[in-house]
Amino acid sequence: MHDSLLLFGATGDLAQRYLFPSLLHLLRDRLLPESFRVIAIGRTEHDDEGFRAWLRGRIGNGDSRNDGALDSLLGRIHYHPLDLNDTAGMAATLSRYADRPAVSYLSTPPNLFESACNGLKAAGLLEPPSRLVLEKPIGHDLPSAREIDATLKSALDESRIFRIDHYLGKAPVQNLLALRFGNTLLEAVWQHRWIESVDIIVAETAGVDGREGYYADYGALRDMVQNHMLQLLALIAMEPPAVLDADSIRDEKRKVLRALRPMTAADAAADSVRGRYGPGVVEGAAAKGFKADSAVETFVGLRAWIDNWRWAGVPFRLVTGKRMPSRTTEVMVNFKPVTHWVFGRPDGQHARPNSLRMRLQPEETIELGLMGSLAAPEWGATELLPMSLDLAMLPPKRRIAYERLMIDALKGDQTLFVRDDEVEAAWRWIDSVSAAWQQAGTPVQEYPAGSWGPAAAAPFLPRTVGGKGGRGG
Ligand code: BG6
Repeated sequence: MHDSLLLFGATGDLAQRYLFPSLLHLLRDRLLPESFRVIAIGRTEHDDEGFRAWLRGRIGNGDSRNDGALDSLLGRIHYHPLDLNDTAGMAATLSRYADRPAVSYLSTPPNLFESACNGLKAAGLLEPPSRLVLEKPIGHDLPSAREIDATLKSALDESRIFRIDHYLGKAPVQNLLALRFGNTLLEAVWQHRWIESVDIIVAETAGVDGREGYYADYGALRDMVQNHMLQLLALIAMEPPAVLDADSIRDEKRKVLRALRPMTAADAAADSVRGRYGPGVVEGAAAKGFKADSAVETFVGLRAWIDNWRWAGVPFRLVTGKRMPSRTTEVMVNFKPVTHWVFGRPDGQHARPNSLRMRLQPEETIELGLMGSLAAPEWGATELLPMSLDLAMLPPKRRIAYERLMIDALKGDQTLFVRDDEVEAAWRWIDSVSAAWQQAGTPVQEYPAGSWGPAAAAPFLPRTVGGKGGRGG
């Protein structure tokens, strides 16, 4: 396990909210080596003590269980304010850390990847077996993603590049693999004969505040669908790998992404909807609308089709939006209705097709929706009710997704990181959607903050949030 972490973007939002808290928890749980050190790099002027004091006020949450670990973490941090465009300056400052293999983590905008790589290379910090971890966005479309990739590859090879998608570090997502490939029960019905549709929804109450500039360029399609949502889709739809190693899993995910049917302008009206929030009320508080000069969406609903044997004709509905009524991140696999209903009332007032519901947020749960009957006299023997079986086998301690990913990057396990060809395949499909929107002139419809998107979104929403999805695609 490498024990030297160089963190670029150390004063940024992600570092404060997730990366340092993850390191804190890992130290508290004694999961990092004794010799572990962090070299923090940012733009703000601080010396070591100044940075430590700044960080102390921002992490730990006043939780006294973290006190010892917080001191331990802060004591391991050295801070350097650096201009990433000054390769020689970077090399002079950072070469002293080339005494051992390092993991360099670029929590920076992608336009700094190239200069960061140049500086790291000049400092001797990209020599094997050192590694590089990157945050999204990796490009804006396929050509720009390829450019970034070429820059990275000129510094190091794919086996040492770790592209983060933090959704892959979430516990229920890992559990999905366990459920699918550790059981015959689900895998036997995991296909178009038994599954009617799949819903993937990532709804957030937060808006784009503080990130307006980035968002105006990217929108929900590029910010959320290209990465997190397509990774979820790939894990749900992939074939069982022959072995559970990084490349076998990523080979299978890539095949799914490549089988996504490109969207055409003719499909755009039926298979997509775009929205942008206007003023409204979210969780009881007034919220302003998002104004941008570009035609950019904060809500998107898509119907994706995977053109292969297993998934023929099964719609995957992908919905994501900002300023929704509640935070809801879940995957819902909707099975077909029973072929012959024998319990009276064929319309089946209570008949509900089976489902597998995997919630990622706000709770982490996995439920199998079944029909059952209550053996109470007033119900009668054949009165059925929807029931759910709780399949959660999740660890009692909830972890930040980044904790697992940090450990894996330090250990060199790429299983939960995204490979170059997956990124490309995802962009190819996303580019088809944005071209289809452009050609079809797909409008961005306003919705009030605090609603489930524009009215036209209803057919894309899962039944759990009151949509018409779940039956009939
Ligand atoms: C990020 C997006 O990748 O994921 C954000 O850039 C989004 O816009 C966030 O809010 C959602 O992550 P999570 O873990 O809170 O669902």
